[in-house]
Amino acid sequence: MHASLSLKPALDAIGTAIDTRFDRLLPVPDDARAPLFEAMRYSAIGGGKRMRPLLVVAACDLFHVDRERALRVALAIECIHCYSLVHDDLPCMDDDDMRRGKPTLHKVYGEAIAVLAGDSLHALAFEILADEATHEDPFVRSELVMELARASGPSGMAGGQMMDIAAEDAQFDLPTTTRLQQLKTGALIQFCLEAGAIMGRVGESQRKKLRGYAKDLGLAFQIADDILDVEGDSSRTGKAVQKDADAGKATFVSLLGLDRAKKQAEMLIDQAIGHLSGFGQEADLLRAVARFAIERDR
Ligand code: IPE
Ligand code: IPE
Ligand code: MG
Ligand code: MG
Ligand code: MG
Repeated sequence: MHASLSLKPALDAIGTAIDTRFDRLLPVPDDARAPLFEAMRYSAIGGGKRMRPLLVVAACDLFHVDRERALRVALAIECIHCYSLVHDDLPCMDDDDMRRGKPTLHKVYGEAIAVLAGDSLHALAFEILADEATHEDPFVRSELVMELARASGPSGMAGGQMMDIAAEDAQFDLPTTTRLQQLKTGALIQFCLEAGAIMGRVGESQRKKLRGYAKDLGLAFQIADDILDVEGDSSRTGKAVQKDADAGKATFVSLLGLDRAKKQAEMLIDQAIGHLSGFGQEADLLRAVARFAIERDR
């Protein structure tokens, strides 16, 4: 069966679950902060593949974690992801006008509100994780907070974004580009799987398998994003295409060319799925997400 076919209901369901929760979490106040909340809603509700939330829920399902709690963690990682996109699109970063099929946040609300909406989504992620409703055990909550902080900051996504900027004026080799992508995109994806293990309170051997899967998946996912920048259709991706080469971005496509980049992504996904061999059909959703990560057109 084509992976994306079996995955569609799961992606639709997680999309609805996340939208409902953002809607509940972000009522617009009747005061001068209203535009900030409206901007947060604009970037968080009704768009995106919600692949990270799906990964969290799929990983939590392996260990029979309560669904409502898993969805709180899923919401937290999507907050960080949405914030990263809002800031990534700013004129001082990638300077993009379209995201998720609509004008970027700063185009509609201006740069100052876009910065604040990003800041607020960032903070909200940790507020959600630290809340008792996420897990009754404070050690579990603090482990989640610690892992998400690491994955988002200078040793994770923000560090990768820094390398992404530095690459515009430098010639990065393959190992350096791999590290860039693993930080920029891989770290948040790795958090999704780690979070499942933390919520499930599982031991090192299970975590190792999930880490192997996540590392390969994260890299393959960004390679697919870079391939879509070259070959994709903006009416499907919902964002501008053919921007990376002109901006001098360091990607697997710029280093290896399209064909070898595609082969590399396929190899990584086979490898990612290989890490799941110790799991039975309870990991089929993770296997399907892995195929989707490189077969997608958006
Ligand atoms: C885009 O991520 C940015 C990258 C890290 C490659 P997604 O492709 O997951 O974006 P949405 O959430 O579906 O819009
Ligand atoms: C961005 O990578 C990754 C983030 C941390 C936001 P890109 O700059 O390639 O993402 P798109 O193509 O704008 O979605
Ligand atoms: Mg970028
Ligand atoms: Mg960008
Ligand atoms: Mg891109």
